[in-house]
Amino acid sequence: AKLHTVAKAAGKLYFGSATDNPELTNVQYISILNDSATFGQITPANSLKWDATEPARGDFNFSGGDQIVNLARANGQLLRGHNCVWHSQLPDWVSDGNFDAATLTSILQTHCSTVVGRYQGEMYSWDVVNEPFNDDGTMRSFVFTDTLGSSYIDIALQAAKAADPNTKLYINDFNIEGPGVKSTAMQNLVKDLKSRGIPIDGVGIQAHLIVGELPADIQQNIEAFTALGVEVAITELDIRMDLPATPDKLAQQKTDYQTVVSACNNVSECIGVTIWDFSDLVSWIPGTFPGQGAACPWDENFVKKPAYDGIVIGF
Ligand code: XIL
Repeated sequence: AKLHTVAKAAGKLYFGSATDNPELTNVQYISILNDSATFGQITPANSLKWDATEPARGDFNFSGGDQIVNLARANGQLLRGHNCVWHSQLPDWVSDGNFDAATLTSILQTHCSTVVGRYQGEMYSWDVVNEPFNDDGTMRSFVFTDTLGSSYIDIALQAAKAADPNTKLYINDFNIEGPGVKSTAMQNLVKDLKSRGIPIDGVGIQAHLIVGELPADIQQNIEAFTALGVEVAITELDIRMDLPATPDKLAQQKTDYQTVVSACNNVSECIGVTIWDFSDLVSWIPGTFPGQGAACPWDENFVKKPAYDGIVIGF
């Protein structure tokens, strides 16, 4: 059974994967990525971020983004845009520019409308705002909140809406897989945006998880979002472990992938699941969490792991 085929049969819109431009030269990798029965959706992992798309003010670069958009189009795969505004991979010219509020507003509007507008009609959805919250539910401090407060979120969403009225506008974050203060903060944000008529269509639950440490009540938590009138997507799923991998850890990982997928599957407004790349060979985890890895459903030799079957069973 292939993953997107199984997801579609269960009534979901897609099963997808992140990918990144340097990976596209690996022939084994690309043959799996290009299989639209396995992946019905692609997310560029880096090439639409601010540092890649506007490395200097007004100097836009879409070479990496275009490559992945063209690949997905050729394969008939949906796309998620990632992302318009985020505290990380934000160039110094933005962070350290000491711009006043009016200038920073204009910079944000220009960035979001140019990047989203570039792909008008191509993107199923966009992570317009990425990782707005700290784990305690307060808004993360960075140049946009420091200068504009939470209004930066309104500005980004409105600019994205004007640039592509039909793409679904998402706010995306991690540690909102289960109930808690951060999930509550995201729900309050969605309610506030909706009450003020600011466009918001979806909440992205990243789901960078740890084997054997899944939060309880993932399905109930997804339902708490969809009850607000937004859709939900699992946007960046991976489930890491302390290395080395052992048969026991891989078996628990299979269960954990199944748990996340089935929580989404059980909620009709949870529209799809994206893994944050599919092979341990290219996963971001070992570089960011030293000593951890083996987080993906395919191993570093492109052999399917038990986690693959966990996903199939989950749908
Ligand atoms: C990661 C990429 O996968 C890495 O290649 C990059 O070095 C850092 O960013 N949350 C997000 C993603 O929203 O953009 C991050 O992607 C992973 C965490």
